[in-house]
Amino acid sequence: MRHYFKALLIICLAVITLSCSEKPVKTESNISIIPKPASIQIQPGEFEISTAMKILYQGSDDIVDIPAFLNQKFQTAAGFQLKVEAVENNEIPENSIVLELGSCPDSLGMEGYLLKVDKTGIRINAIAASGLFYGLQTLRQMLPAEIESPALVENVNWTVPFVEITDKPRFGWRGMLLDCCRHFMEKDFVLRYIDLLAYHKMNRLHWHLTEDQGWRIEIKQFPTLTEIGAWRTEEDGSRYGGFYTQDEIREVVAYAKSRFIEVVPEIELPGHSLAALAAFPELSCTGGPFEVGNQWGVFKDIYCAGNDKSFEFLEKVYDEIFDLFPFEYVHIGGDEAPKYRWENCDKCQKRIKDEGLKNEHELQSYFITRMEKYINANGRKLIGWDEILEGGLAPSATVQSWRGFEGAKEAAEQGHDAIVSPTSHAYFDYSIETTDLKQVYSFEPVPTGLDKEHQKHIIGGECNMWTERAPQEEIDDRMFPRLLAMSEVLWTDKGQRDYSDFHARVQDHYNRLDFLGVKYGFESMAVSVISEYDPASRSYTVQLISGQKGFDLFYTLDGSEPTIHSTKYEAPINIDKSTELNAIAAKGEDGPIKTINQKFTIHKAMGKKVELEFPFSPNYDGSSPNALVDGLCGTENFRDGKWQGFQGNDLVAVIDLGEPAEFSKVTLSCLQSMPSWILMPTEITVLSSADGVEFTELASLAPNVDQKRSDKFIMEFPIEFLKTSSRFIKVIAKNVGTNPDWHDAAGSASWLFADEIVVE
Ligand code: ACM
Ligand code: ZN
Repeated sequence: MRHYFKALLIICLAVITLSCSEKPVKTESNISIIPKPASIQIQPGEFEISTAMKILYQGSDDIVDIPAFLNQKFQTAAGFQLKVEAVENNEIPENSIVLELGSCPDSLGMEGYLLKVDKTGIRINAIAASGLFYGLQTLRQMLPAEIESPALVENVNWTVPFVEITDKPRFGWRGMLLDCCRHFMEKDFVLRYIDLLAYHKMNRLHWHLTEDQGWRIEIKQFPTLTEIGAWRTEEDGSRYGGFYTQDEIREVVAYAKSRFIEVVPEIELPGHSLAALAAFPELSCTGGPFEVGNQWGVFKDIYCAGNDKSFEFLEKVYDEIFDLFPFEYVHIGGDEAPKYRWENCDKCQKRIKDEGLKNEHELQSYFITRMEKYINANGRKLIGWDEILEGGLAPSATVQSWRGFEGAKEAAEQGHDAIVSPTSHAYFDYSIETTDLKQVYSFEPVPTGLDKEHQKHIIGGECNMWTERAPQEEIDDRMFPRLLAMSEVLWTDKGQRDYSDFHARVQDHYNRLDFLGVKYGFESMAVSVISEYDPASRSYTVQLISGQKGFDLFYTLDGSEPTIHSTKYEAPINIDKSTELNAIAAKGEDGPIKTINQKFTIHKAMGKKVELEFPFSPNYDGSSPNALVDGLCGTENFRDGKWQGFQGNDLVAVIDLGEPAEFSKVTLSCLQSMPSWILMPTEITVLSSADGVEFTELASLAPNVDQKRSDKFIMEFPIEFLKTSSRFIKVIAKNVGTNPDWHDAAGSASWLFADEIVVE
């Protein structure tokens, strides 16, 4: 009887053991590492980390902090630390985690690593400490997601699949810009971002520290810079601001260094300098006085280039910058410096004459080159935005291209290094409607048409987190999940990139971000509206797609605000008359998230051919040549892809109805966003023609709109006339032409934004 019992027990144990070992084997597709490593080979089995194990490091004391980094994770999430020991060669016992410098191919570079997990343990090899650190980040992503927990988690097997990984980055410069000027970010928040960057193998924090709206770094020689420049008076009279003391700056730089992130300070010149001029008005062309900016945009008042004191001041500021930031690069800005003041300043004009310069662009080049000499003399290198190309590039400058890829291409062709961060893919202050996850993932930093010989000058890219519209608590939503795409673009070889594979890994990665407390946003518009127009039935088939998994969609078709009690979206909707669709995404009782509004019109010009006398800007193309008559109206987000934008030019559109048709009303819709230089038209005229050559005016209208109104708004301009029958309709909307004198960007070409010409 007792033997029988014992035999039964053995069988039971065998069954239990068997079922334990039948855990699903990890396959490449369910190891979700972001950014994706160059090569992964998975073997069946897994290695379990337990309290008795040691972390052994070999090679150098430089790497002593790396085991501590892993131990900190274990201590918090698992409640134990592994013993850390330095070992000599050939002394490696089994059942340990080994970090080893050397004994790997040179081709891995300073940031590459080999990571091997088998039954004997975990081994990371690299040429440099940075490679070991990145191997460790990969290891973190192979451990159970609970390793990221901020509190102890019970009952977790700390296992890692058997695997062999060889990995190295595609680009050496993998950055994120954080603007702490428009909104101030607490020091601890910056440290948290450094952790999040390091986790995704990003290695540069481009710290934007001075702006029109705030000077955020203590400069010992000029205490007024922060006494005055760090604080602004908001429109409601409240005070807003803050700055980092030099001790705090040093702490951030050291923290970043320990995570293999170099901090690149950006101290702007000659423009975006109003906060400094508020403290030192004598450095401007007019002498001021000035207030620290409390509006967003570009300001005319910049450092006077004719005054040597401007340079003396900036050199003294940079002396302290060199002392605080040990990295070889500093960023001088150089973007968006209007030349208006320089054109009207005797000192600046004298400088142009004395230096034999052609114009104010060459004066800007003089400014940058003079600063570059100082920066180089102090053993540092200069980076500037792509405007520094205008008027001639300073001899050894690195260009950061933001207004597209052209600046990077031009710089590289001139033999200069370039960092690529175009508004089209890398501006994470832009809404997800404008730049969604897929768009970021499609970013290819090497400009098309750049020959092979010069491609080596493209040293990498950055994502830019400007904060006009993003206080600290909204940064996560803007940065994630888009940062994941950027990290893979900059780390992983182009040939290895595959959006659907990446997207699947992102879904797994959310679990880790949840443990890290990241409040990530949507992958695309909360609700995307995909519509197809059928001319035969004169109706749309409309599909709604959620921008994040786990959300339900609800909608209304009568213009009312939807709630979670409105019609739930289950299947495509048929729309056969002009309709205002509103939709929301909601998760359970949470939400609703953001209402999406889409107006559908059904009118006589829909789908007809449109010819434009002046082309629309390629950046605002309405997504189709006949966007003006596609029945889909643009929204208040002028980057929603529905608007056609015309800079400096009028809208002159000729619609060919194909055959004569009767109509008595034409309605043009336009958008204004004055701070973005988009103004309503000054006059709209409708004409008709039988042959498309001779046109007769039907009616015109002079809109009466407040050009100074600074919010974004859409206006419909209905123009009615006696019923007419014609084949061709011409609509002319007059652009203001240049921004008026009162505008911060006075004299620059203004925009006209148009969408939908409704013909009834
Ligand atoms: C920039 O976005 N002005 C560089
Ligand atoms: Zn001047």
